[in-house]
Amino acid sequence: MQTYHTIQGMRRELLLNRREGLKIGLVATMGNLHAGHIELINLAKQTNDIVVCSIFVNELQFGLNEDWDRYPRTFSADCEKLLASGCDYLFCPDDLEMYPNGLATQSKVICPVMTNTLCGASRPGHFEGVTTVVSKLFNIIQPDESVFGLKDYQQLAVIRRMVEDLCLPVKLIAAPIYREPDGLAMSSRNVFITEQERSKVTILKSCLDAIAAEILSGKTQYPKLEQEAIKKIETLGFRVDYIAICNSRSLEPAAEDDSELVVLGAIFTEAARIIDNVAIMREN
Ligand code: PAF
Repeated sequence: MQTYHTIQGMRRELLLNRREGLKIGLVATMGNLHAGHIELINLAKQTNDIVVCSIFVNELQFGLNEDWDRYPRTFSADCEKLLASGCDYLFCPDDLEMYPNGLATQSKVICPVMTNTLCGASRPGHFEGVTTVVSKLFNIIQPDESVFGLKDYQQLAVIRRMVEDLCLPVKLIAAPIYREPDGLAMSSRNVFITEQERSKVTILKSCLDAIAAEILSGKTQYPKLEQEAIKKIETLGFRVDYIAICNSRSLEPAAEDDSELVVLGAIFTEAARIIDNVAIMREN
């Protein structure tokens, strides 16, 4: 695996691959790689000749009171995992390389409306930071395909919308959520879950599954289902950010006759914010 820290070096190398007609896949990450990330690399390898993984902890997508400074940075371990995965290139620029003019005056890519709800409501500016950095990465790497995990469901929906709206020539691949044996969705932030909380956080996934089962059995009182789940989660001592039954594409509250739905949730533990979702396909 070859590692590049500069945009120029990375582009020059990828140009050689592109000239040979090789198909390039990108997996964008913020590092602290776990098995879920490696699954993204594996998926990218299936349909691309060359796989690039980027590691960049993007300050632009963190709010002022969020965890940018304590976000786990595990560069050497990440490199070993990528090497073992058969990833071809690692692109890991520093802040100055990605934002040479500073963050305050950085031009931004903004995807309106669907970024104001769910995670966007409690993390103002977050998705602006994501779409801005992802569009920069798309411009730098110019991948044919890019793989994103479905755990960050809203992130993928927003990136999908950006790609459509801006006619970006990249195919997005959605990777299934990779879970721990007890169902907890893998996330770099799971390291912040305390030992006491660990056995209880699976309540989020259980509640989302229970809502999905209720909907599949014909229930359509969505606000009631959401409220019941919130109460259940709160009894275990977690603060709930949201539990929401949405149209899977627009992420607007689901209508009774929507056939493709997603149940999303976010809860706060002592030191982390855990998100998860369950998709539902329903015949009308
Ligand atoms: O999902 C992530 O790790 C980040 O939001 C991404 C897509 C790498 C952009 O910084």
